[in-house]
Amino acid sequence: MSDLAKQPGHLKKAPENFLSDGQIEAVAAGRRDFLRKSFLAAGAAMAAPLAARAAEQGDPNILNLPEWSTTLGKPVATNPYGMPSKFESQLLRRESPGLARVGGASVSFCPLQGLFGIITPSGLHFERHHQGWQDVDPTKHRLMVNGSDESLLKKPKVYTMDELMRLPPVSRIHFIECGANTGLEWGNVAVPTVQYTHGMLSCSEFTGVPLKTLLEDCGVDYKKARYVLAEGADGSSMTRTIPMEMVESGEVIVAYGQNGEMLRPENGYPLRLVVPGVQGVSWVKWLRRIEVGDKPYATKDEAVHYIDLLPNGLHRQYSSIQECKSVITTPSGGQTLLNKGFFNVSGVAWSGRGKIKQVDVSFDGGINWKTARIEGPVQNKALTRFNVDWVWDGKPAILQSRAIDETGYVQPTYGQLRKVRGTKSIYHNNAIQSWKVVESGEVTNVQVL
Ligand code: MTE
Repeated sequence: MSDLAKQPGHLKKAPENFLSDGQIEAVAAGRRDFLRKSFLAAGAAMAAPLAARAAEQGDPNILNLPEWSTTLGKPVATNPYGMPSKFESQLLRRESPGLARVGGASVSFCPLQGLFGIITPSGLHFERHHQGWQDVDPTKHRLMVNGSDESLLKKPKVYTMDELMRLPPVSRIHFIECGANTGLEWGNVAVPTVQYTHGMLSCSEFTGVPLKTLLEDCGVDYKKARYVLAEGADGSSMTRTIPMEMVESGEVIVAYGQNGEMLRPENGYPLRLVVPGVQGVSWVKWLRRIEVGDKPYATKDEAVHYIDLLPNGLHRQYSSIQECKSVITTPSGGQTLLNKGFFNVSGVAWSGRGKIKQVDVSFDGGINWKTARIEGPVQNKALTRFNVDWVWDGKPAILQSRAIDETGYVQPTYGQLRKVRGTKSIYHNNAIQSWKVVESGEVTNVQVL
């Protein structure tokens, strides 16, 4: 046991996890092994001129010209829709071997450990479907906007995609996080990699029409209509209540675009709701109906599911905002540090209440903190990338990040969060994540209270 692990009361190591050794190996095989590759040649060799270094090391990769560099390359449009290099084929969204799949009701996690910056490539955006996904014909898709009674909305309308796409659009970068992200950790179950602890999280540039524009086009009466019901067209009967203040702010978007192209079918093509800062379930996909009403709708997905059981036996309902949170993505669980020396520690932070103001990183399990560099420009309700320098001395370490948003909210420890929320929740776990590094360089998931 490491010195840090021995500290009384400070470290509670999570039970290894719920997977068998074989399953853990399978999961770990999917990691990006960049740490192994990148730091081999670092250090003293850096200063030597390239030619001298090559001769000194006899490295065939620099001394011998590969055949491809002296022949014709492949012609343009060999791949009319560009794909990642075959050498990146392990960077995939993955289903957790620990979660049961019930028909199409499943989730695939985003490989956060292999991503840079803040934008999630559309093909790696996490997926969560309650009844599977469809590739919907946009020429047949319609959006109906109506009121629960006539006095709330004067001119109910049915829009075609063409009609929606003629209206003035906005494009904004926002994160989407499933309320259940990091849910397994409530019960002190240490899931092995960041893909599974935090991978129900993605960030894209979304393009579409503010919902406000459509409601005003249909003659909404904001004094009476204080809630919106959003309904999806898939078999899950997904319906969620959105408070009208969010719509009036102009932030809620009826989106058709994602990262410069149409939405991907798995993410709701051709139309989805974007509700910045709010848990993913309200981002209704394959959006077919918006109704305005004068009270919350208490649908199955807000009365039975997506509620938080509290220690006193009561539950919280409509707890939609994703509070300030962060996670170190490299190094993270399942990766191995090759040897001691310099590392760039990198991660993402986000808040459903606005912009990220500061991220602190600890290398000793939360005793000392160092402020990280934030890579700007910082966007509202979007992922924010942070980096921090670290020189690893080869001794056991516990890496943590702690985000603070523009409202002054500080990301809690597990101890602080459990004190208020208990341990019976599934949703809204925004506690500080800890990665333990041992002398061999292996990184694992532990919980520090
Ligand atoms: N909308 C419909 N119509 N059906 C669904 O199953 N899943 C919700 C939400 N919108 C869902 C839906 C949930 S629980 C989440 S977390 C997000 O979509 C996931 O969005 P994504 O699959 O684009 O990542």
